[in-house]
Amino acid sequence: MQPDKPDRLSLVTIALHWLVAVSMIGMLAIGVYMVETETYSLYSWHKSFGVLIITMVIMRVIWRIKNGWPVPVSQYKSIEQSLAKAMHWILIIGTVLMPVSGTLMSAFGGNGVDLFGLELVPRNPDPENPGKVLAHNGDIAAFCHAMHHWLGYIVIGAVLLHITGALKHHCLDKDATLKRMLGSRAHSG
Ligand code: HEM
Ligand code: HEM
Repeated sequence: MQPDKPDRLSLVTIALHWLVAVSMIGMLAIGVYMVETETYSLYSWHKSFGVLIITMVIMRVIWRIKNGWPVPVSQYKSIEQSLAKAMHWILIIGTVLMPVSGTLMSAFGGNGVDLFGLELVPRNPDPENPGKVLAHNGDIAAFCHAMHHWLGYIVIGAVLLHITGALKHHCLDKDATLKRMLGSRAHSG
């Protein structure tokens, strides 16, 4: 597999970036929508896609560790570079912790986790309250719930800043940052 080069990103980097980007934006939107509108029918879909996303995220993290971060296409102000780097870290950590916290919240909370109908962690029904579940560990479930909620909003903010940065590079600086992530060769300078 070709590694990233300063003027051209590897196909693996590009494919994993867009697969994870589309999945994460979809999951953030569905997550907020289903909670705000109490659309419980979406919960099972949200969980199943979230579990699938973990595999892509693991591949991406291994690829980043092996390959390092893409180098900027040109020399930017150090504040701009630090902000971009910080966003990349928040985004990559968020893509790991969101599905992990979601899975642990559902598993320890007794609600179970399934993958499109295949039971991965069974529900834990409360025999005295039909329709309700018993938590295996309420403290861990509550901690992971809080993490899923707050980190979700932090990641939404980081994604918005990240997209703004990508558009600034493309429309104002007129450099190849966005084009390179879309597969074009960036001419140095
Ligand atoms: C891939 C990454 C994921 C993202 C980006 C994501 C995002 C979100 C967001 C933004 C919310 C709304 C939070 C709120 O307003 O309180 C949410 C809710 C929820 N997520 Fe996820 N999620 C992901 C994966 C998962 C996974 C893997 C599971 C479980 C297996 C899960 C289970 C849930 C549940 C049960 C809720 C509703 C919580 C409630 O009722 O308060 N999520 N998710
Ligand atoms: C429309 C949405 C998006 C656009 C236009 C976009 C654009 C870009 C661009 C142009 C780069 C290259 C930056 C550079 O060369 O320094 C990049 C890198 C990156 N983006 Fe996005 N992005 C989007 C969504 C997302 C989302 C939703 C996530 C994660 C939640 C994400 C995570 C990352 C990360 C971690 C990098 C660093 C390089 C890598 O690991 O592949 N992006 N993005």
